[in-house]
Amino acid sequence: MTEQRLKIALTKGRVEKQVLPLLEQAGVDCSQVRNKQRRLIFDSETQPYEFILAKGPDVTTFLERGAADIGIVGNDILTEHQSTQYELLDLGIGKCQFVLASTADFDPVAPRRKIIGTKYPLITQRYFDQLGQDVEIVKIEGSVELAPLTGLADAIVDITETGTTIRENHLQIYDYLQPVSTRLVVNRLSLKQHQAAIFDLVDRLAAVVAEPKPKELA
Ligand code: PRP
Repeated sequence: MTEQRLKIALTKGRVEKQVLPLLEQAGVDCSQVRNKQRRLIFDSETQPYEFILAKGPDVTTFLERGAADIGIVGNDILTEHQSTQYELLDLGIGKCQFVLASTADFDPVAPRRKIIGTKYPLITQRYFDQLGQDVEIVKIEGSVELAPLTGLADAIVDITETGTTIRENHLQIYDYLQPVSTRLVVNRLSLKQHQAAIFDLVDRLAAVVAEPKPKELA
């Protein structure tokens, strides 16, 4: 169809699952993404969008480098990666919460220097800086809950959505940090070059987000 397709980088996994119904309600055909199998990039003859499926941190890299015009990604990742692009819309999905969690014997006010496991070192550092506590941060790539269970760390800073992982691993929440949700972010240059097409999509999505949602979309 057109050479001016907007490249939209979607975060694979939970965000992808929740954002497809919103895009479809906004009139975007997502059938190729739904039937993707192992494909990662989806072009269309019938609409001015190309979809890229990537991990959240890479969505921010695609955006920063101009390899994507629009990114759909959690603000946990945007904050951690210090994104400098334009955040245009809170999609109201992917809602979760940053927490400080550990085993039942953890003492959050113990005077000794704690070891904290996390996928989010910057957010964790800022949190403990605010508390005036000097901590050692250990970067972990996944299954962060293992850290206090194995003695790798005293506690973790991580996101929780349903609370299931924390509960099933017998951890407790000691503090709540900032809430998280999925954002639509636009590359600064793309916004200048494709302003009308970007706002057309953003306006349609904003209208969908503003509608009361049926339970299955929550
Ligand atoms: C995230 C997070 C927790 C889990 C919490 O991990 O790091 O481990 O989800 O979700 P819940 O509160 O609904 O149980 P993710 O599933 O992204 O995988 P990872 O641990 O491999 O990063």
